[in-house]
Amino acid sequence: MAVSAGGPVSGPGVVVAGTAVSEPGDVVARLDAVDYLVDDGLAMAIFLAIRLGKPLLLEGEPGVGKTAAAKALSLALGTPLIRLQCYEGLTAGEALYEWNYQRQLLAIRLAEARHEKLTDADLFTAEFLQERPILQAVRHPGPTPPVLLIDEIDRADDEFEALLFEFLGEAAITVPELGTFTAPQPPIVVLTSNRSRDLHDALRRRCLYHWIEFPAPARAAEIVRRAVPGATEPLIRSATEFIGRVRGLELDKAPGLAETIDWVSALSALGVAGLTDAAVAGTLGTIAKTPDDRTAMALVVSEEAS
Ligand SMILES: Nc1ncnc2c1ncn2[C@@H]1O[C@H](COP(=O)(O)OP(=O)(O)OP(=O)(O)O)[C@@H](O)[C@H]1O
Ligand SMILES: [Mg+2]
Repeated sequence: MAVSAGGPVSGPGVVVAGTAVSEPGDVVARLDAVDYLVDDGLAMAIFLAIRLGKPLLLEGEPGVGKTAAAKALSLALGTPLIRLQCYEGLTAGEALYEWNYQRQLLAIRLAEARHEKLTDADLFTAEFLQERPILQAVRHPGPTPPVLLIDEIDRADDEFEALLFEFLGEAAITVPELGTFTAPQPPIVVLTSNRSRDLHDALRRRCLYHWIEFPAPARAAEIVRRAVPGATEPLIRSATEFIGRVRGLELDKAPGLAETIDWVSALSALGVAGLTDAAVAGTLGTIAKTPDDRTAMALVVSEEAS
């Protein structure tokens, strides 16, 4: 029994505000317009995910822009972002759907008051179904499919992944009592992982894959320039070069783009012009997140100052 018609749609790509995303260059331009900068590899991965209607699994070190990619994509396409944050113990009831037991109980009580009896067929209907992010994405009416972000899938228990297979493979969810809901157009699905554990091959097989590298200094500088418009050029350049340098050290937690942006924001707010300034030491807490890393980075600052 299928409760909603329509399977994955293939065609000229997703049409947004009258303009088709018809080549990877369109992805670059649209994301650039919302200040998210992509290289050719990520642009192609996103383009294919949209074009083929397949989920995209993004992996990369912390702070390379995995979560931001999905957020920027929804902004760029003018379509809602539906977000599922994964964690240990995440259940189907929180991710897919749940029956509204309180409403069912109320319905039973009302029926009893009227000396009527409700059967399962009366209680397990769409009226009592509570959509959670994944079913919400499947049932989104369009016209543009939403972006569904399944963030940090590696934090969920590995059994949880099996609950996603039907959705990832067929853009569908089966509710045993009701039938199968199939998305009229497959949502644009972005899964992210920090590789804290291995993901099932079966999950990987259902997704396109892209590893996001930490950007080269020039791109990192451009990202910071967009994020901290008030920062001076010499500050942006020296800070991103510094980050590139310390990322080559053996650190407990290598600083990502988020930390770089925080650091330049802090330095800029303090009116610091260059890294030789004494104020730098006071702001290292934005990029060094353990005492050992702080010591290692302070050493680099003093080497650069001398
Ligand atoms: N390519 C990019 N263009 C513009 N901003 C970016 C880019 N990549 C990252 N950023 C910025 O860097 C910050 C960190 O990105 P984000 O939180 O998405 O990283 P992440 O990979 O999801 O990290 P984590 O693994 O810790 O969740 C965000 O503020 C984001 O705006
Ligand atoms: Mg993230």
